[in-house]
Formats: sequence, C-alpha cells, structure tokens
Amino acid sequence: MKKIKVGVLGATGSVGQRFVQLLDGHPWFELGALFASERSANNKYKDEAKWFLPYEMPEEAAEMVVKSVNDAGAGTTENEDIAVMFSALPGSIASEVEKRCVQAGYCVASNVSVYRMEPDVPLLIPEINADHLALVDVQKEKRGWEGFIITNPNCSAIVLTLSLKPLMEYGIKEVRVSTMQAVSGAGYAGVPSMAIMENVIPFIGNEEDKMESEPQKILGTVEGSRIKNAAFTICASCHRVPVMDGHTEAVWVKFEESVSEEEVKKAFKDFTTDIKTPFEPEKPIILREERDRPQPKLDRDAGRGMSVSVGRIRRGRVENEVKYIAEGHNTIRGAAGASILNAEVLVERGYI
Ligand SMILES: NC(=O)c1ccc[n+]([C@@H]2O[C@H](COP(=O)([O-])OP(=O)(O)OC[C@H]3O[C@@H](n4cnc5c(N)ncnc54)[C@H](OP(=O)(O)O)[C@@H]3O)[C@@H](O)[C@H]2O)c1
Repeated sequence: MKKIKVGVLGATGSVGQRFVQLLDGHPWFELGALFASERSANNKYKDEAKWFLPYEMPEEAAEMVVKSVNDAGAGTTENEDIAVMFSALPGSIASEVEKRCVQAGYCVASNVSVYRMEPDVPLLIPEINADHLALVDVQKEKRGWEGFIITNPNCSAIVLTLSLKPLMEYGIKEVRVSTMQAVSGAGYAGVPSMAIMENVIPFIGNEEDKMESEPQKILGTVEGSRIKNAAFTICASCHRVPVMDGHTEAVWVKFEESVSEEEVKKAFKDFTTDIKTPFEPEKPIILREERDRPQPKLDRDAGRGMSVSVGRIRRGRVENEVKYIAEGHNTIRGAAGASILNAEVLVERGYI
C-alpha cells in the first residue's frame, strides 16, 4: 500500500511532538508537512520543537522546515498531496485554520475542542462509536465542504468514556468523577513548574464542562442525521497534579439497579472490539488486579499508550453504586494516538 501523506498542525507543541513521534515508521501514514506559528515557520523542526519526549527526534522530521499554519489550506499547491491534517492547535486559532483546511478538501482529524460538540461532527472513540462516522455525509451535505472534520475527545473524557462503555449494559444512572491530570495535558508552556511542584491545582479551565458533556455524545446513538445523547448525568471535579504524563480518575457509577463488583470486573475483562488497525491495542481496557493499581508511572504505556487501565473496583456507599480508578496516557490515548487511530479507521472504511 502506498503511504498516505499527512500534515501536523501545531507540530512543535506537546501533542504535536507526540504526533511526530508516533507517526515515525507508521505503516500507512508518512509525514508530508509540519505546521506551527509564524514564530517557528521557515526554520528546521529540530531548531523549533523544544523536544521533551524520551525518544530520539525522528531524523526525517528533524530536518523538515516548519511551515506557518497560515499556509495550511491556503490554496498553495505545495501541500496538495496531503490527505489528512492532524490538528493540535490552541482552540483560539483552530476554528479558523481547521475550517480553511476542510474547505480546501483535507480530512482534518482534530484534538481541539471547538468542533467536538457540533451536531454534524463525529466525536470518535472507534471501539465505542465508529457508527457515528455516518455524520460525515451529513456534515458534507449540510456545510458543502470539500473535505470533512472528525474529532477525538478531551484527554480526560476519553479515559472516563472508554471505562464506562462496558458498564452501559447494566444501566448507568449517574456518574461522579474526580481527576488527577498530568502537566503535559496543559501544553509545553502550560503550568509553570513553580506552581505545580509539590502542589495540586484544583482548576483546569473548561475541563469540567467537557467531562460532563462529551461522554454523553460519544455513548449516544445515531438517530437519522443526529446523535441522541446517552441519558445519564456526570458530575466532574478536575485537578492538575505534578505527574508528567497519564491522567488518573476516581470514578463513582450509580446504576439503575444493584450491580456487583464481580459483574463490573467481568465487564471490563470481557470488553473487546472489532477494530483491527495498527494503533488499536490488543486490549483497549486492562483490568489491574493489584490493590494499588492503576498508577500513571506504571500503567500509562500499556498497549503502547493506547490502553486504559482500570482497577480498585469496589462497592460505593450509595445504593447501587460501584467505584473504581481509571488511568490513561493523555498525549497518546488522550490526544495524538487517538487521532491517528481515528484516521486509520477512516482509511479502513474508505473515507480516505
Ligand atoms: N496536551 C494534551 O494532553 C492534550 C490532550 C487533548 C487535546 N489537547 C488539545 O490539543 C491542542 C494543542 O495542545 P498542546 O498541549 O499540544 O499545546 P502546546 O504545547 O501549547 O502547542 C501549541 C502548538 O500550536 C502552535 N501555536 C500556538 N499559538 C499559535 C498561533 N497563534 N498561530 C499558529 N500556531 C500557534 C504552537 O507553535 P509554536 O511552537 O510555533 O508556538 C505549537 O505548535 C489544544 O487545543 C489542546 O486543548 C491537548
């Protein structure tokens, strides 16, 4: 198979670097262009990316000249052979840049929140809702765009939602969740070290809103040209902690009826998927039986960073409640890896 050329918007940032690392040697995709702000444009990637991943910067990317995002989708011919634009831009500029790219005919696979909750935009976790890709046709028809956009969830929402999926069969009434989120989730320049070391910051802008709304859309069902949201409510409290990578979440699920810890464990253990693309982990959910797991340091790289680990499953204090801990890699499963998996599914299903 001839490799498909891809671009990365925001390639020098925290998520952008993950894209560059994960796309290196990808069997289906190859890097065609790297985009960042005017500040980085026209210089080599190795001179502009403040590389902080514990892997060598891929040689090919290191020598590429960074382009300005203003050139992405701007009608120039030089990026014509690119089929997919992965987006890791700040929300403030993503709306305009992503729209321009879609209008220019690209498939945009975005990490950014701006289009996630639009009714005609798939918010995808392929193991859960690949059928939401039906919205691509709705979107193209409604907006008259040449290309199309799909999105992946917020980095905490994806961990929570994957863990909730196997429990849906028992009838979820209400979810409460308290997050412990890694610093890489705030971007390279995100949280000053003086603020986060030896500390916990009990506020992450707009995060609780995303946690309380995205899972309902993802776990919703396709009804004609729209998604009918899942009916349960979510109450979230989000916190930044001094961990480099890996978001950990304490979750309380109240069911419609009594559900035992054993049933919940079995549901996690038995969860499988029919997605079989290169980035799909063997097990999207891994049950950790040890009493002090999951932990970000030990479990974030499970399934090459694409698996969510769950553990400490026990009965809650409230009637019909079970509580557990979930953990996942925020820049892989929660961002770049999720976008790449989404794009793979688009290829497999003939959208690209
Ligand atoms: N970090 C995570 O775990 C995570 C998870 C899920 C989703 N996201 C979302 O992904 C996006 C990127 O997050 P991040 O953590 O990677 O951010 P980041 O580290 O701050 O990187 C931002 C990137 O955007 C570029 N950029 C910044 N301002 C720009 C401007 N005015 N014009 C053009 N380019 C500009 C930067 O280029 P320069 O280097 O040239 O400034 C850099 O490449 C955000 O929307 C975030 O919410 C992040």
